[in-house]
Amino acid sequence: MTAPLRADPATVKVALGDRSYDIVIGRGLMASLGARIATLRPGANAAIVTDESVARYHLAGAEAALADSGVASSRIIVPVGEASKSFRMFEQVCEAIIAARIERGDLVVALGGGVIGDLAGFAASAVRRGLDYVQVPTTLLAQVDSSVGGKTAINSAHGKNLIGAFHQPILVLADTAALDTLPTREFRAGYAEVAKYALLGDAAFFSWLEANCRDVFTGGNSCGSFAREHAIAVSCRAKAAIVARDERETGERALLNLGHTFGHALEAACGFSDRLLHGEAVAAGIALAFAFSARRQLLSTAEAERAIRHLAEVGLPTGPKGIPGGLPSVDRLMDLIAQDKKVKRGMPIFILVRGIGAAFVETGVGHDEVRAFLSEKLAEK
Ligand SMILES: NC(=O)c1ccc[n+]([C@@H]2O[C@H](COP(=O)([O-])OP(=O)(O)OC[C@H]3O[C@@H](n4cnc5c(N)ncnc54)[C@H](O)[C@@H]3O)[C@@H](O)[C@H]2O)c1
Ligand SMILES: [Zn+2]
Repeated sequence: MTAPLRADPATVKVALGDRSYDIVIGRGLMASLGARIATLRPGANAAIVTDESVARYHLAGAEAALADSGVASSRIIVPVGEASKSFRMFEQVCEAIIAARIERGDLVVALGGGVIGDLAGFAASAVRRGLDYVQVPTTLLAQVDSSVGGKTAINSAHGKNLIGAFHQPILVLADTAALDTLPTREFRAGYAEVAKYALLGDAAFFSWLEANCRDVFTGGNSCGSFAREHAIAVSCRAKAAIVARDERETGERALLNLGHTFGHALEAACGFSDRLLHGEAVAAGIALAFAFSARRQLLSTAEAERAIRHLAEVGLPTGPKGIPGGLPSVDRLMDLIAQDKKVKRGMPIFILVRGIGAAFVETGVGHDEVRAFLSEKLAEK
């Protein structure tokens, strides 16, 4: 982790036997997309799935990179936002992939944030019983989280991500220059997942983030700082290692849900709207997980406060009181926690911490204990 920052693209392997693939991370990598695809799948055609915003900034670059290496491509552009993870859009994307004559041996390129990765990845898993796909993540959240690990999904009327498949990409290409066009608020929300990896399993990385987060946010390499690339590579390495050991979340992969039980309840209470982005909800959820763990005397209050302080310093919310608009009632939050899919036989699963970098899965948390804790947090001014 404390290895010197490197200038050349970093490669992180996701080791899953014959479904292994590389995550390549570096500034300006988009130009190499066509050559990499032509090497992996000679002669393949590609359908690029993207959203209207990403298309404006990055579609031409992706198409040119493919054309330069003789990869014929077609484009499928969907509206921006979570609403595109719907049955309707799934159908449209599948039909468009078929209409573009993408066959077995060809591939789908998911160019965008987590919405596009989830939608295009799920379409790739279904069309012709499974097409190869490449993730080209363009948000920080997608570069460190959603593009890695093969979870794909759309939303159901009953909840988020309830219809989907495990379908691993054949390559993840994370061009960190793509993040230059990302709104700061989206970047900051993605940073919550970076902090999550540090806080769940890598105390040294957390110290590094405390010292270098400003450079991660600025990102430019002009003064020789590769802090952004380093943070993304360390995050991907953490996720890749966990996914390689527990691809289908039967155990350890649940640790990646640090902050997500409380976070999802807050996100749902805000109607999955712009009021609270996913990463913002996760930051609030992580802070609550640390505070709850300290309340259980699993770690000192000072250590919990150190974790929470870092999230606050980069401008992320650290509990319900940081959320704009009216706060949900404790009853509503408890209902939402009970409905969360991370529930095993009626007991919600919480990821708690014994310290910074020491998360664990806890299934023995009682409803009354959570209710009392959340009531206190909601009452904080
Ligand atoms: N599959 C997984 O393992 C996994 C993990 C975490 C999250 N997710 C999913 O990811 C989704 C959230 O992903 P997200 O935060 O990337 O949201 P997103 O895909 O909606 O992107 C956020 C916004 O940024 C815009 N955008 C994307 N890249 C841009 C760029 N480079 N420049 C300018 N604008 C850009 C998008 O158009 C959108 O408006 C959720 O649906 C969540 O369920 C999936
Ligand atoms: Zn998340």
